[in-house]
Amino acid sequence: MAEAESEPRIYGFTRASCAILTHVSCASFTVLITVLSRPGTSWFSWHPFFMTLAFSLFMTEAILLFSPHGSPVKKLSRKAKVRVHWALQALCVCCALLGLAAIAYNKHLHGKPHFTSWHGLLGLATVCAAGLQALGALPLLYHALAKGWSLAKLKRYHAASGLLTHLLGSASLLLGVGSVWFTTSVGERVWYLAAFCPALSAFVIMSQVTNAYMAKKRLQS
Ligand code: HEM
Ligand code: HEM
Repeated sequence: MAEAESEPRIYGFTRASCAILTHVSCASFTVLITVLSRPGTSWFSWHPFFMTLAFSLFMTEAILLFSPHGSPVKKLSRKAKVRVHWALQALCVCCALLGLAAIAYNKHLHGKPHFTSWHGLLGLATVCAAGLQALGALPLLYHALAKGWSLAKLKRYHAASGLLTHLLGSASLLLGVGSVWFTTSVGERVWYLAAFCPALSAFVIMSQVTNAYMAKKRLQS
């Protein structure tokens, strides 16, 4: 009996620790990339800066704020959380577009071909997915835009496609960490620590969203 009661506490503690570690690692990753890229020193420098700000900071924090274990705005009402969520996601999409424009213009200036690496191709897919995801979220605010769709169904699809978009963002960040620019900028230990950040955030967000979905399903059945 005592064991059964202590189990959820251990789960809760582990989830809260993982969420706190994710906040710290996403912020540290953003600071590290900003320091290394020194935004403003070249057109290229804006690319890692804006992309990390968009996907490591804004998108991850926008989803983590719904976490029952590690939300920094736990006390806010659901309505206020949703408002902060869409504001952060709108910032994410703006930064992603600026980051894409910076690298595309930099390549154009140097006469280099576009979208030739796995990172470039997946990165392009990620920016498109983030834009579509934000547009697809509009019926959650203005339900009249999706007649015939229940709000519950829209939310379920939004959460599932949002999870996929976050996974794409984490994979693009990871491939960016594998780029020649980054691997030649840092030592081996820092490289492993940097690669750990998007991997951890992908894992924690996946666990948060799938748990929320399963809890809702359990309530419905
Ligand atoms: C989710 C975040 C990111 C996305 C969506 C993204 C997207 C892209 C895209 C679409 C390109 C190709 C542009 C073109 O060919 O015109 C590119 C190139 C590049 N990115 Fe990123 N990027 C991201 C994060 C990063 C990070 C964090 C770094 C560095 C640590 C980085 C380093 C580079 C480099 C060096 C190139 C030029 C070489 C190549 O095309 O592979 N990127 N990125
Ligand atoms: C790239 C952009 C976006 C991504 C990746 C994304 C992702 C997500 C994810 C994964 C969740 C589920 C969180 C959880 O249940 O733990 C969620 C919830 C939600 N999102 Fe977004 N979102 C984005 C943009 C937006 C925008 C622009 C809006 C509003 C116009 C919005 C409105 C909502 C709402 C209302 C919920 C709560 C749904 C519920 O009550 O279950 N999202 N989002």
